[in-house]
Amino acid sequence: MSTEALSGLGGLGRRGHVIRIRGVTKDYERRQILRGVDLSIDPGELVFLTGPSGAGKTTLLRLLYAAERPTAGEIWIAGDRVDTMTRSELPRLRRKIGVIFQDFKLLRRKTVLENVTFVLRFHGVPPKEAGRRAYQVLKRLGLHHRQSAMPEALSGGEQQRVAIARALVYQPRLILADEPTGNLDADLAAELLSLLCDINYQGATVVVATHDHALLESLPARTLVLHRGTIDYDGRWPP
Ligand SMILES: Nc1ncnc2c1ncn2[C@@H]1O[C@H](COP(=O)(O)OP(=O)(O)OP(=O)(O)O)[C@@H](O)[C@H]1O
Ligand SMILES: [Mg+2]
Repeated sequence: MSTEALSGLGGLGRRGHVIRIRGVTKDYERRQILRGVDLSIDPGELVFLTGPSGAGKTTLLRLLYAAERPTAGEIWIAGDRVDTMTRSELPRLRRKIGVIFQDFKLLRRKTVLENVTFVLRFHGVPPKEAGRRAYQVLKRLGLHHRQSAMPEALSGGEQQRVAIARALVYQPRLILADEPTGNLDADLAAELLSLLCDINYQGATVVVATHDHALLESLPARTLVLHRGTIDYDGRWPP
């Protein structure tokens, strides 16, 4: 596979934003969750998205991934308009994005290792190489000893780590993570953050939604605070 195909965002111009949101509003049942959000994120940024429970962090990430459509406004990912995409265009968008969401779903009839290699096989990576890369990511997340287990035999935190391994193994250029440390103990949370930092250092853009203050304070990164449907603060944390 070419480097271009692997990078996924290869067509992005040097000055282009990876994420560009203009005037995005999202209503649920006539309640306005997001109100005219404007946001630009450059290639290679690591950004935290925080704010109180119910502020709309998950909603915003779901809009970026086109799991939901905005009520109004425009969303661009790597130069492609997302909010008007047709169903048939979505797989191409989603191949560019690694998502670590709260409602992760593992393939129940496949082992831990197969759950991770599956993504690579889907993209045409040969079996041996796929196995090697999957094992490396699982090892980094402390799960290699569980590689032959079936998902139902894992704890919640272990299942979450398999879902994280699956999102990262393809080395996507854009990673969206929603409370990725939610079920992890402090050591594993630190290891996951260090893994995300490595991936970011290698050039990927990473957006992490979290209300974990320890996570925010562990790294001086750009932080967006979502409050009452708008971005209240955009800068280094702590303010
Ligand atoms: N599918 C839906 N239908 C109706 N309301 C929804 C839907 N999804 C989200 N909401 C509402 O939108 C608001 C924002 O939810 P969201 O999940 O984006 O918040 P959040 O910032 O991620 O919160 P948390 O920190 O608890 O994860 C909440 O009030 C929620 O009830
Ligand atoms: Mg949420």
